Amino acid sequence: MSTNQILLEALADPNKTVYLKADGYLGSAGDSGLLGIIPAIPAFGSPDFRAAYGVKHAYVGGAMVGGISSRAMVKAFSEGGCLGIFGSSGLPPARVEDEIAALAADLKGKPFGACLIHTPQDPSWEEKVAEIYIKHQVRVIEASAFMQLTPSLARYRLSGAARRPDGGIDVPNRIMAKVSRVELARRFFSPVPEKLVKEALARGWITPAEAELAPHISMASDLTAEADSGGHTDFRPALTLWPALVAEARIFSAKYQYAQPLRVGAAGGIGTPWALLAARQMGAAYVVTGSINQSCVESGLSPAARELLAKAGQADVVQGPAADMFELGAKVQVLKFGTLYAMRAQKLAEAYRQYASLEEIPAADREIFETQIFKQPLGEIWNQTKKFFEERDPAQAVKAEADPKYKMALVFRWYLGQASRWAIGGAEDRRPDWQIFCGPAQGAFNEWAKGSAYEPVENRRVVDLALNLLYGASALMRYNLAATLGALPFGAAPELRPRPVAEIAGYLN
Ligand SMILES: Cc1cc2nc3c(=O)[nH]c(=O)nc-3n(C[C@H](O)[C@H](O)[C@H](O)COP(=O)(O)O)c2cc1C
Repeated sequence: MSTNQILLEALADPNKTVYLKADGYLGSAGDSGLLGIIPAIPAFGSPDFRAAYGVKHAYVGGAMVGGISSRAMVKAFSEGGCLGIFGSSGLPPARVEDEIAALAADLKGKPFGACLIHTPQDPSWEEKVAEIYIKHQVRVIEASAFMQLTPSLARYRLSGAARRPDGGIDVPNRIMAKVSRVELARRFFSPVPEKLVKEALARGWITPAEAELAPHISMASDLTAEADSGGHTDFRPALTLWPALVAEARIFSAKYQYAQPLRVGAAGGIGTPWALLAARQMGAAYVVTGSINQSCVESGLSPAARELLAKAGQADVVQGPAADMFELGAKVQVLKFGTLYAMRAQKLAEAYRQYASLEEIPAADREIFETQIFKQPLGEIWNQTKKFFEERDPAQAVKAEADPKYKMALVFRWYLGQASRWAIGGAEDRRPDWQIFCGPAQGAFNEWAKGSAYEPVENRRVVDLALNLLYGASALMRYNLAATLGALPFGAAPELRPRPVAEIAGYLN
């Protein structure tokens, strides 16, 4: 074996300290004139984070809407030493409660979390779901899409907070807030706002003793800096977002002297060891992945849609209109490969902008909508939509009857909402309409995994992917250090391939 190969093998084991001699050979601890030492690489992420959540790896499987991050996925993450977040958004509260109760019974105290998504159009969803999380003692929620903080967030965070005899404060419920903007980071890093505390108190949601502790408790315990990702995204580059949010954590920690440190994690674009290493080098306390988990066997997405995901390249994603904030022109990042969803939904978004009512849409366009997109007369779609709202939220139906533009929005949102369900359910007759949230991380993983055991979807398991990213990032870090010290030429690191877990698990202490 050549020297270089011996060196590469030593570098590939993150638990080994490597003593580099000036001539490029491996030395030992007592040698003089060493070129440098490459230390064993400790586990990724913040030890506080791992301790707080009771996980081995500072790796979070982020929420995916409509139960795509399914019970099976959350369980797999939890059993694999990671933190899985159940994708409650878009599900009726009764189903959320069933899933959460089953998870709690299954995992018997092992950590897991669930998503609380901001639903300004239906605040009762947020209230009911927060109550379910408190009732079933879900100890971490991923709070997403919040533009404003709400009383439900304050209620969840403060429930169970108590002063210890030694003067410290126990806060059992943690909020991992997902943000892409500095203004929101500031709100989440501030103490739970007095106005919300008063409201939660007035509604009998929290006790006066819990309310009294609010000035000492940050709204979020952890902040996930969400860069360009699948689904709802501001398309921020991680490289620019990261330093801004870390600076806020420093400022707010110093200002409020919280008992628990404020942490920042990284999400968006993480689908390879290179990306995880970038997060590590930026100082991420933890990472959150989404897109790559969606193509795994534990995903709630239909097998046929997972097959599509596994074939996508990183450029096979596109912006499409978001169903929930359609009227505001909000965008989501979706798969372009194998579906016409983004193009069709965009046609609806343009019509919505241009016309004041369904009746104003020119006949030729209306015909295309009815035959190609809705596959039913728009009047029929309205009847179904009206019936749905009359049962669920009658005020919406009344408002739409009085406001033709709003009626158009509800009809168009029928398509946007169904399009996700068709993908989840694998409706073959609606394949061109499948709406599949996806970011470039998926294609990046596919490109990396090409030719490996993980190319076929049936071999993709969320924890196997996580361990490959974690191990790969540690190995890359060591190759980079060796190159920085001049022991390896730049670019001479061996090809890093995803490997069977049995070969790498031992490296990850
Ligand atoms: C299919 C899909 C659905 C998602 N749904 C949610 C959601 O309901 N709530 C949420 O907080 N984040 C959601 N996300 C974001 C993920 O939790 C995660 O933050 C993001 O995917 C990370 O970026 P990546 O896609 O580049 O890995 C979703 C992402 C995907 C791909």
